[in-house]
Amino acid sequence: MSKLLRIGVLASGGGTNLQAIIDRCQDGSLAAEITVVIANNPGAGALERAGNAGIPTLCINHRDFSRREDFDSAVVEALQDAGVDLVVLAGFMRIITPTFIAAFPERVINIHPALLPAFPGLHVQQQALDYGARFSGCTVHFVDGGVDTGPIIIQAVVPVLPEDTAEALAARILEQEHRIYPRAIQLIAEGRVSVDGRRVIISPACPATPKALVNPATEG
Ligand code: GRF
Repeated sequence: MSKLLRIGVLASGGGTNLQAIIDRCQDGSLAAEITVVIANNPGAGALERAGNAGIPTLCINHRDFSRREDFDSAVVEALQDAGVDLVVLAGFMRIITPTFIAAFPERVINIHPALLPAFPGLHVQQQALDYGARFSGCTVHFVDGGVDTGPIIIQAVVPVLPEDTAEALAARILEQEHRIYPRAIQLIAEGRVSVDGRRVIISPACPATPKALVNPATEG
């Protein structure tokens, strides 16, 4: 068996993306091994999910650090101790510093519940509804110095429906997050992902995607 990609997952919340990654590692469709899960808050459900799967966990509470850089240094050290090749932010609600990114150049990825570059930041499902967007979705991207600005690896699109609440739209998006995050990690594990400026190159390329999506439909 070829070497598994060693990943470290950072989370703050419930950890459903973490769970999707755990499940894909366990069923063999993702050639990766989660070597550590780190949460910045002790109540993160992600810690329990990792514990149930026998994955080492750490809680590094950002409230214990007066400077953002010191918190980041502690997290970087823990990731390095765990021999991590790729850092996966899965609902990690802290902005990471340049020091962190420098320790893992082009090796930190994030998932965001909107179609970037539209709606970066927080409360983005409500923002998509308020704007009247006909589609939203999710984006896996490399993390650079900005907020949700790094090169895009993969996106999934979902329609925004007339009766949608932010919660309903978030649930529809989350379902797709669980598909595309493991897929992005698998592409990286296969060594198929490189960055050329803003563009991410997948080589060999993936089969073609659907030609177009239209909402509302052109018939009826
Ligand atoms: C996801 O929507 C993710 O995109 C966002 O926070 C949510 C985390 O969900 N950044 P979970 O903790 O993976 O369930």
